Amino acid sequence: MKHFLKETDLGPGELGKVFSLARELKRGRGRHSAPVLAGQTWALIFAKSSTRTRVSFEVGIHELGGHALYLNRNDIQLGRGESIEDTARVLSRLVHGIVIRTFEQSEVERLAAAAAVPVVNGLTDFLHPCQIYADAFTAAERWAGPGGDLVASLRGRKIAFLGDTCFNMANSWILGASLFGMRISLAGPKGFEPGAQIRAQLNAEGRAADFKFTTDPHEAVSGADIVYTDVWTSMGKEEESEGRAARMRPYAVTAGLFAAAKPDALFMHCLPAHPGHEVEQAVLDNPRSVVFDEAENRLHVQKAILAVLSEARGG
Ligand code: CP
Ligand code: NVA
Repeated sequence: MKHFLKETDLGPGELGKVFSLARELKRGRGRHSAPVLAGQTWALIFAKSSTRTRVSFEVGIHELGGHALYLNRNDIQLGRGESIEDTARVLSRLVHGIVIRTFEQSEVERLAAAAAVPVVNGLTDFLHPCQIYADAFTAAERWAGPGGDLVASLRGRKIAFLGDTCFNMANSWILGASLFGMRISLAGPKGFEPGAQIRAQLNAEGRAADFKFTTDPHEAVSGADIVYTDVWTSMGKEEESEGRAARMRPYAVTAGLFAAAKPDALFMHCLPAHPGHEVEQAVLDNPRSVVFDEAENRLHVQKAILAVLSEARGG
């Protein structure tokens, strides 16, 4: 059974397939050209809030001919202590695939291990792989042009990641950059260096030294093709909000800092954004800000991921 729990769960060939299919689906939107989920129901389990992930999966599954079943974690027995394994076993008898947004990556892994249907990671504290694929596709669309090689257009490019450098988006970009053949520099406060879990993942995949960390935001953005940031206070970290804001302030993406990247650099953010905190409104409004393309591309890229998973399953 093929799952998508982390960026590297799809190999380079499958990545190319996801990107070219996403481009095709984007062009043919509304034509229901690929009803690959016809007759299928996919469960979407959410333990955290969501706008983009929920809506893009619900719309995407519908557009592929399937039905999406939204399940708030607290409304199902999982929220009252039923095990993740039994949840996987029961849902596997009833639905054709599961998307899950939760806290621990291990919960997603346990769900996948016990499931007889594909499982997709819709964000954990550790990774947000659907977002990274959509982000990389967004940059590749611009760099490769209409008929160009999307995956090849990423190779050798540099991304600078600023702010919270030891949570899901930073981790996912570290793993993603390694898969895409990109260079990544992360700039954040002392104590926010990428942590043991992502280092262990890189080691396990033989990707050990594939990122640079610095406390100097200018050093990170120098020569960057993408300047990326995320909220300073992620879901589940609300109690730390004040302390984080104080420490991360020097890493806010201001117009001045953005100007220190390459002259044609893109600004990216997974959203939701907090203007005046991790990014200035002027940067969000810059013509080289592609934040809403990223949000839209969640739909096209996830449809392609679901199609590839479904093909791997022989259905
Ligand atoms: N970027 C992202 O995953 O947004 P949501 O939290 O709204 O799903
Ligand atoms: N780091 C953020 C990403 C939201 C899409 C969070 O986990 O809240």
